[in-house]
Parts: sequence; structure tokens; C-alpha cells
Amino acid sequence: MEPTAILSNEHRVIEVVLDCLEQIAGQAVKTGKLDRDSAEQAVDFFRTFADGCHHGKEEKHLFPAMVAKGVPERGGPVGVMLAEHEQGRGYIRTMSDQIASAAEGDAEAIDMFAGAANAYVAMLRAHIMKEDQVLFPLADRMMTDEDERSLMAAYDHVEHHHMGEGTHERYLEIAGRLAEKYGVKTDALKSAHAGGGCGCHHAKKD
Ligand SMILES: [Fe+2]
Ligand SMILES: [Fe+2]
Repeated sequence: MEPTAILSNEHRVIEVVLDCLEQIAGQAVKTGKLDRDSAEQAVDFFRTFADGCHHGKEEKHLFPAMVAKGVPERGGPVGVMLAEHEQGRGYIRTMSDQIASAAEGDAEAIDMFAGAANAYVAMLRAHIMKEDQVLFPLADRMMTDEDERSLMAAYDHVEHHHMGEGTHERYLEIAGRLAEKYGVKTDALKSAHAGGGCGCHHAKKD
């Protein structure tokens, strides 16, 4: 399997939680109260799984490997992706800062939470599409078998040493719980649990 396929599979998991976040924000606006537990779980997922683990693999390993092959670090597609990761961190911070007040029914906090959530959802969906359709095919064309093997080893390192054993699995479970609560389809989670390319060799769980 190509290292970009691992990242694309993670995109499918991230999209499940983006669908949930969209509903969490919509419900908060409609009911005038944010569901604190769900919002905290979603923000934790985006901070740890999407930004820490997934963007970590891209920023520390895939993008530098592309830059080493001649893709410019700034101004080109890699530069755009890095800027969007940074933009996403800002939205995550805003959501996180507003959770407590929004859960108390503070209208301004709900507005700010929902504004950041909706902007994050739109930005990350488009970001994922650009990576899947443009950046990753470009990476696939550039990488030799040897490059791909070393990227796979680097991803494993992120999973086991940087994120810690069981972290990936724990966030798949959070994604599953949120998806169930908000009626979001979970096909992507099943293949990730079955080891369908999430890249980490944790034990399969049913
Ligand atoms: Fe990315
Ligand atoms: Fe990505």
C-alpha cells in the first residue's frame, strides 16, 4: 500500500467526525444550548487525531519528502496545505474556548462556536479534497519504493512513539460513538478498525 492511501483512509474517518461536528453546531444554534460532551469529544478528536496524528504525518514526513524531491515549501501546494493546517488550529482553539459558556446557553458563545465549527468543517472538507485529488497523486508519482518504505516506517513511529499505543484506536472509538449519536454513516470506521490501511498495527477490535 502507498503511504498516501493510509492518509486518505484517515481522511474518511475525519470526514465522519466533520459530519458530526456540523450537526453539533447546528443543534446548538437551534436549541440555544451546546451539547458539552459531544463538543468536547469532537474537539479532542480534531486536536489529537486529525491535527496531532494525521497532520503530524503530513507535516513531519510526507511534505518534507515532497520538498526533498523539489516541491517548493512555500507558495506551492505544500505551502497551501501547511497554511490550512494552521488556520484549522485557530478554529479548534476558538471552539475549545467557547465550549463551557456555549454549554451554559450563552448566545454569543454559541455563535462563536458554531461560526468556528462551520468554517472548520468547510475548510477541512475542501483541504481533504485537494490532498486526495491533487497533492497525494503528485506524491505517488514522485516516490520510489524505497521512499514509500521509509514513509511507512515513519508513520508507524508517529503512531507508536509520538501518539502512544492505543491512541489511534481510542479515537476511532470516539468517532464511532459520535457517529452513532448523530446518525452518521460509519463505513470508513469499519475498514479502519479492520486494519484497512490506517497504518497502525494495533489489535483488531469488533
Ligand atoms: Fe493536510
Ligand atoms: Fe490530510
